[in-house]
Amino acid sequence: MDKDRQQPNKQALARPHGRPLDAVEMMYSATEIGDRVSALAADIADAMGPDIMVVAVLKGSFVFTADLLRALHHHGVHPRIDFMTLSSYGTGTESSGEVVITRDITDDVRGARILLIDDILESGRTLAFARVLLQERGAEMVRLCVLLDKPEKRKADLEADYVGFSIGDAFVVGYGLDYAHYYRELPFIGTITTD
Ligand code: IMP
Ligand code: MG
Repeated sequence: MDKDRQQPNKQALARPHGRPLDAVEMMYSATEIGDRVSALAADIADAMGPDIMVVAVLKGSFVFTADLLRALHHHGVHPRIDFMTLSSYGTGTESSGEVVITRDITDDVRGARILLIDDILESGRTLAFARVLLQERGAEMVRLCVLLDKPEKRKADLEADYVGFSIGDAFVVGYGLDYAHYYRELPFIGTITTD
């Protein structure tokens, strides 16, 4: 087996506050993610050209965005970059669908060709909201790029233009994605197992 595909050891997943260790089963290795990010960057550069603005939705997309930006650089893309934080409010695990801006971008988007980046496209409500917001503010074009797509969970009528990996209905962590604020630092994407 590729060394990169070896399961992480549990010590590396220890939490600082003494809670029991959870096992994380690898879904995509760092190498597999890197290869996919390079391919995505080539597609985006071909289709959108060098003069774009990147808007990344925090927090989950920060690792993906950082890697994608450097891959885009190798294709001659030199974007402006801004960030926004969005929250959906609701009770329990089912979000109400209402999306609220908790941190807005500061750059002017009028006339911009925007690549809007998020970690996961699930219901689609977050990105539907963000895209309309940027269009209403005068963006010339808004293309959507997500690391992961969960098409089975879609509620809004929306598809991404660029997708890293399409997955089923699994809860995943790592590479920027969290479970209860942890695991974002993992260099791979995996699922939490209870055994
Ligand atoms: P939606 O498309 O509006 O439902 O928003 C999807 C958001 O839910 C993502 O941006 C993540 O922040 C979060 N999310 C959905 N599925 C997962 C997962 O498997 N792991 C971690 N966060 C997730
Ligand atoms: Mg998110």
